This record gives sequence, C-alpha cells and structure tokens, in this order.
Amino acid sequence: LSAADKANVKAAFGKIGGQAEEYGADALERMFTTYPQTKPYFPHFDLGKGSAQVKGHGKKVAAALVEAANNIDDIAGALSKLSDLHAQKLRVDPVNFKLLGQCFLVVVATRNPSLLTPEVHASLDKFLCAVGTVLTAKYR
Ligand code: HEM
Repeated sequence: LSAADKANVKAAFGKIGGQAEEYGADALERMFTTYPQTKPYFPHFDLGKGSAQVKGHGKKVAAALVEAANNIDDIAGALSKLSDLHAQKLRVDPVNFKLLGQCFLVVVATRNPSLLTPEVHASLDKFLCAVGTVLTAKYR
C-alpha cells in the first residue's frame, strides 16, 4: 500500500467509525447469501437473517479490520494471532477472503456511497487483500 492508500484507508475507517460492527455483520450476511460455499466453515452458527451469532461475529471481524487499519504499517504483527487461527486451525481456503473483502466493499458502497470514490475503493481493496494475505500466510 502506498502512503496515499494508507491515508485513504485510515480516513475511510474514521468515517465508518462506530458503525464498523454493523458493516462487519452486513458483510458476513452478504457473504453467506451470495457465496453459500462459505457457509460450511460455520456449521455451529445460526446463519439465518438477523442472527445474533452473525452479528456478534461481525463485531469481531470489524474490530480486527479496525486494528489492522490502526496498525497499517504492521498488519502482520497486528493480526498475528488471527493469522495463526485462520491458517493453522481453521484452514479457510484463501479464495474466501476475496469473497468477504468484496462483500465488505459492497456494504461500504451501499451504506456510505459518497465515501467510496474510485481512489478509496482501490485503497480499501488493496487493504482487504493485504489482510487476507496475512490471514492465509501461515498454512503448513
Ligand atoms: C474467527 C476475523 C475472514 C472463518 C474469526 C475471528 C476474527 C476473524 C476476529 C474471531 C477470533 C476469536 O474469536 O478469537 C476475520 C477477518 C477476515 C476473516 C478480519 C477477513 C477480512 C474469514 C473467512 C472465513 C472465516 C473468509 C471463512 C469463509 C472464520 C471462522 C471463525 C473465524 C470459522 C471461527 C468462528 C467461531 O467459531 O467463533 N475471524 N476473519 N474468516 N473466522 Fe474469520
């Protein structure tokens, strides 16, 4: 990510602010509906519309994204434990990170269209790819 990308990502999360949790839950709901192949990773979750478990998980995912944005020069360090979890324990197929990233961008587009200029879109896309790369870096 360039210096401009980093500034765009920080500014975008600043504008999303306290709504990040809802963005996270919406992104998950969209992912499960649009890409049902992601559902088998969550056999223990109620994935129905408005599920409290999905809302709760959206909160965790959003917090991780905010943490990564706040530590944008060291995303690998900031998400080290999550990287262990996703790559070593959950073994989520890396392709799914792109799907969740796309869903997150669509949520930004629908909830805050003026925020998503082409430049911010590009920067957020790079950021979400970087997060996905970190979370899938420790497969063995
Ligand atoms: C758990 C973040 C992508 C599957 C988690 C947790 C966080 C997180 C914060 C909770 C960890 C904990 O409780 O200690 C993220 C972020 C992602 C991402 C930031 C990408 C932007 C994915 C994808 C999948 C996935 C694409 C699969 C389609 C899971 C599963 C759990 C989990 C199955 C465990 C859920 C549970 O039993 O509570 N993730 N995740 N994650 N994640 Fe991800």
